[in-house]
Amino acid sequence: MKINHIRLMQMSACTVLFVASCKMSSWYKSAEPTKAGAEGGPVTALPFNGNGCPQNDGQWKTYWQKSFLDIKQASYKEPNTVVVAIKLDECGAQLEKSKRASTCLANMKAFTFSERQQKRPGFSMGFSVSDKAYYAAFPDQSLLDLPDELKDKEFLAKLDDDNDSVRQGAHDRIKALNAGRPVAQQMVSFTFFSNHLSTIDDSRSAARFFVYYPGEVFDRFYQFGFREQTVSPVSNSISLVAIQKKDVSSGATLVTPKAYYADLWRIRSDSGIKIGTRLDQTKKLENCYLCHKSALISIVPEKERFDPAIFGGALLEVNKKMASYSNAKIALLDTSAFGPALGHGNIGGRTKEFIAACSGGTITTDDSAKKVSEAMNCNSCHDSKSRGQLDFPITLEMEYTGSLIKRNIMQYKTMPPGAVLTDAEREALVKCTELEYMGTATEAGEFDKWLLNEAHCDFKTKQN
Ligand code: HEC
Ligand code: HEC
Repeated sequence: MKINHIRLMQMSACTVLFVASCKMSSWYKSAEPTKAGAEGGPVTALPFNGNGCPQNDGQWKTYWQKSFLDIKQASYKEPNTVVVAIKLDECGAQLEKSKRASTCLANMKAFTFSERQQKRPGFSMGFSVSDKAYYAAFPDQSLLDLPDELKDKEFLAKLDDDNDSVRQGAHDRIKALNAGRPVAQQMVSFTFFSNHLSTIDDSRSAARFFVYYPGEVFDRFYQFGFREQTVSPVSNSISLVAIQKKDVSSGATLVTPKAYYADLWRIRSDSGIKIGTRLDQTKKLENCYLCHKSALISIVPEKERFDPAIFGGALLEVNKKMASYSNAKIALLDTSAFGPALGHGNIGGRTKEFIAACSGGTITTDDSAKKVSEAMNCNSCHDSKSRGQLDFPITLEMEYTGSLIKRNIMQYKTMPPGAVLTDAEREALVKCTELEYMGTATEAGEFDKWLLNEAHCDFKTKQN
C-alpha cells in the first residue's frame, strides 16, 4: 500500500494523471523547488526575499511560480505561507498596478493572508477581525455566558461527580430544570466519549456531556468536558455552536440561519463555579472552521462507552436537529480563502487509468472505477448551500484518528450516503479524492490550480 503510494508520487504521472494540467503547466515538474523551502526550514530561494518587490509582469510571473512551489513543498504550512503573505502585503501597491499579476496572485494572497492571520496572537479563530472583535460582533452577548438554568449550582456540581460514569445526576438535574421551560424549548442531554479529540483544557478528556438548549432566537449546542479519571484535573471547557434562527430585533425568521462559535470556561473557587470565556482565561482559541465545515458536526459516539439504551434516543434527536441546520452560514467568516469545494466535478478526467493510479493499483475493473469516480462527487451535497463545502485542509488529522473525511468514508461508512462500496473501494475513494484535490509532489491538484488561479490567470500561457 505504502510502496504503491510512493511510486505514484515519484513516477512522472503526466501520461496517466491530470493530462490537461500537464499541458498547461509543465513548469510544475520542470521547476526544481529548493530544499531550503522545505517544512520548518527558512525560505531563501524566493526571489525578492527580504529586498524589494517585483517590478513588472515578468518578475511577478517568476514570483507566482516560485512562491507556489515553496508553499506546496512545505505542505502549505508556515513559515513559507507566512513569508509569501508578508511579501504580498509589503508589495501590495506594486501588485495592484498590474491587473494580470493581481489576478494571478489573488488566491495565493487570500490563502496566505488567512494562514498568517491565524498565527497572529489574538486572531487564532481565523476571522478577518480579532477573536475579541468577533465575540463583540455577536448579536447577543449572552452567548458568551451560560443561560441561567445551566449555571445552576447543583447541575455544575453533579457534572464533576466522579462516582458516576455517565453523570446521571446532572442529567436528572436537566430534567428537573426542564419543568420551568416551555414545552417547545425542552433541553436534551446525553453523555458520550469522542472518537476524535480530547478537551482543550488540562483534563485532556474524551468525555462529553452534551446539552441541546433551544430558545426563541438561538438554538444552542453545548459540549461540557468532564474528566475520565479521578487522577486527571477536572475539565474547564464548554464549547458552543449557537444557531441564530431569527432576526434579533424584528423576530423575523432568517431564511439562512447563522452559526456562531464560542468556547466558555468553568472557573472554580471556594465560592463555587463561575463561567468565563476561554479567550479571557487562556488567551487562546483555534480556528473552528478547520473542522466545522458545516457549522454542526453530527455526533458518532465512541462505541465501547456509549449505551444506546440510555442515550440512543437523545443522540438521535440532537443529530436530527443538527442536520436541520446544515444550511447555516458561519457568521462573519469569509470562507473563500479556504479553496474550492472537494469533489466538485470530473476535472482532469476520472478515467479508469486515473482511478487505478490514485488507488495505488487496487482498483482495476471498469465497474469499480466507475463506482469510485461517481462517489467522488462530494460537492453534490457539500455544496456550501445545503451543507458546508469541504475545503482546505481536507487531510487535517484529528487527535485520536485520521481525517474526518477518512473516518466518515472508511470507518463509519456514512459517506457518501447510500453508496454501496467494498472496503477497497472506500480506501480508494479516500486516496483519490485527496489526490484529486491536493495533487502529488509533481502534479497540481484542484486546490493547487485554485491557488494559482489558473482559470483566470494568463501567466501560464503568455510568455513575457
Ligand atoms: C480538529 C477539529 C475540530 C476543531 C478545530 C474544532 N472542533 Fe468542534 N468538534 C469536532 C468534532 C469531530 C466534533 C463532533 C464530536 C466529536 O466526535 O468529538 C465537534 C463537536 C463540537 C460541538 C458539539 C456540536 C457539534 O457540532 O457536534 C461543539 C459545540 C463544538 N465542536 C465547538 C467547537 C468550537 C467553538 C470550536 C473552535 C473554538 C471547535 N469546535 C473546533 C472537531 C473540531
Ligand atoms: C447525498 C449527499 C452527500 C454526499 C454525496 C456526500 N455527503 Fe458527506 N454528509 C452529508 C450529510 C447529510 C452529512 C451530515 C450527516 C452525517 O454526518 O451523517 C454529511 C457529513 C459529512 C461529514 C461530517 C462533517 C460535516 O461536514 O458534516 C464528512 C467529513 C463528510 N460528510 C464527507 C463527505 C465526503 C468526503 C464525500 C464524498 C466522498 C461526501 N461526504 C459525500 C451528505 C452527503
